[in-house]
Amino acid sequence: MNGEILSSLRPQSLDDYIGQAEVKKKLKIAIQAAKMRNEPLDHILFAGPPGLGKTTLALVIAREMGTNIYITSGPVLERQGDIAAILSTLNDGDILFIDEIHRINKTVEEIFYTALEDYKVDVMIGKGPTARSVRISLKPFTLIGATTRSGLLSSPLRSRFGMILELQFYNIEELVEIIKRACKILKIEIEEEAAHFIAERSRGTPRIALRLLRRARDVATVKAKTEIDRILVEKTMDILEIDKLGLDELDRRILKTIIEIYDGGPVGIESLAATLNLEIDTLKEVHEPYLLQKGLIVRTSRGRVATDLAYSHLGYSSRIRGGLFDGSFGELEEDQSEN
Ligand code: ADE
Repeated sequence: MNGEILSSLRPQSLDDYIGQAEVKKKLKIAIQAAKMRNEPLDHILFAGPPGLGKTTLALVIAREMGTNIYITSGPVLERQGDIAAILSTLNDGDILFIDEIHRINKTVEEIFYTALEDYKVDVMIGKGPTARSVRISLKPFTLIGATTRSGLLSSPLRSRFGMILELQFYNIEELVEIIKRACKILKIEIEEEAAHFIAERSRGTPRIALRLLRRARDVATVKAKTEIDRILVEKTMDILEIDKLGLDELDRRILKTIIEIYDGGPVGIESLAATLNLEIDTLKEVHEPYLLQKGLIVRTSRGRVATDLAYSHLGYSSRIRGGLFDGSFGELEEDQSEN
């Protein structure tokens, strides 16, 4: 029951989908053209931080195209045979959605080169001297890949996508709209101010907005309230330890580590990840983008640096300058996408 309600929170059409105006505009044209020509949609790559709606968009596209969608993810496709088996079951125009496509291994990736271009795959049958390659023809299909950054894909794979669409963080108005839409579906009232309060703490991310909303709804249920108001949301955020900028305990720990252990930086990502006991990729792809976007840290050629905003946000009076720090951060990185 709950699962049904939660999945119906997802928009069903592009018109229902709030935000990402540029992406939607490009998709609408591509979908309309493909339908008019009666062809499958070109392969699409969605890039952007987690929770911005990449899977949701893939589901919406399948619905708009009236096709089936098969959902999988990069790390589970271990062998060429795994992907060949999936590809050979796809029908004309079906969509294959691969989340975390940057995590497929090299041998699986190579299968895609011919699959995407010519709808054919070569698979090795057998081992050793009797091994031979068999070519299988596929039905024309559409691959939709999702990745946290398009730069993580090898260029042969990236170049086979007809569209590379970068999802952006959502603004407050869009998040308010998403929260209100969800409240309608969940049949709970919310004050405008309360919706705003949640949106401001959602890090530009619908998945977080909806998670915070569900926690606020829990508090409302327990307090036998029929409306989510500002006070109730404030209480929820206190319980969850989410601050004004939407930072949680881990975000604050990242900033505090840069400030207290590394004298504000610069600190290399490897050292920072090791000190925090986090995976480098998780730190880079999940936690860092929002801190960068909010201007709490900057990336320089010598590493990550906490900004004055980070100091003041956490209540430090000024930068603590360590003995080794020479006052220079090195060059600010121009293109952050490649690091
Ligand atoms: N629920 C989650 N993300 C959404 C979006 N972008 N539009 C509408 N509803 C959503």
